[in-house]
Amino acid sequence: ASTLGAAATQSGRYFGTAIAGGRLGDSAYSTIAAREFNMVTAENEMKPDATEPQQNVFNFTAGDQIYNWANSRGIKVRGHTLAWHSQQPGWMQNMSGSTLRNAMINHINGVMGHYRGKLAAWDVVNEAFNEDGSRRQSNLQATGNDWIEVAFRTARAADPSVKLCYNDYNIENWSYGKTQGVYRMIQDFRSRGVPIDCVGLQTHFTGGSSLPGNFQTTLSSFAALGVDVALTEVDVTNASTTQYAGLTQACVNVPRCIGITVWGVRDSDSWRSNESPLLFDGGGNKKAAYTSVLNVL
Ligand code: XIL
Repeated sequence: ASTLGAAATQSGRYFGTAIAGGRLGDSAYSTIAAREFNMVTAENEMKPDATEPQQNVFNFTAGDQIYNWANSRGIKVRGHTLAWHSQQPGWMQNMSGSTLRNAMINHINGVMGHYRGKLAAWDVVNEAFNEDGSRRQSNLQATGNDWIEVAFRTARAADPSVKLCYNDYNIENWSYGKTQGVYRMIQDFRSRGVPIDCVGLQTHFTGGSSLPGNFQTTLSSFAALGVDVALTEVDVTNASTTQYAGLTQACVNVPRCIGITVWGVRDSDSWRSNESPLLFDGGGNKKAAYTSVLNVL
């Protein structure tokens, strides 16, 4: 196959990118995005601050622009994200207790209701753990340790057709406290019937040229709990070809690793643009890392 999306499809997977709605008018950007990828994630436009700027006043203009751009081209969409300590609207940031808990539930219902039946997956909860595997302190965590399962139960009821994911970074190394903390939560949810379908490993790699320890073991261990796994926000310092090939191979080796999403199209589009971490350079040219990924898919 001659594109990332087509190559991934050969093994039943997808290859995605983050899309910034404001860049869709740039034809070099949108041409590459539409040609190479068959899944997209809104980089910011479906986050809580974007979708509910005032309490119970929802705004889907920017999210819908990306959804419609993708859907009209046969590209699927991952929803990102519903409950997160970051990028909360101002009105939510200083809330606490049952007021915040109810606002979270209302947010999930409002956003998922709008996109009901349209998306491939939702990152229901994002980045809820500390590096040592304990829960991250946040206003959401302070509402009670059950906030994550409440978010997932609310999400299942709001749209029974969409896959529900937990998403985080630094959970790639199997021998890492945070990975183990997330693993234990997923194991607990599966044993108690809390609805969860997938784990997203953001896969923001920083430095070096080798993979985090036992990366493939992490993927297969999560999968053995009965959930799909996906690499959801891949970027790699200086686009190391060994790391890009290795992370792709790890996914390909695990049957329940359903797809890979890179966090942007060209280096110049990246939130880490000074690290040149993506598969296309600023001129839209394929980098060596692009070929290393395509060859493994
Ligand atoms: C980043 C975006 O890329 C930036 O444009 C924004 O300013 C901050 O958020 N983890 C996530 C993503 O789950 O939503 C973040 O995206 C990157 C880290």
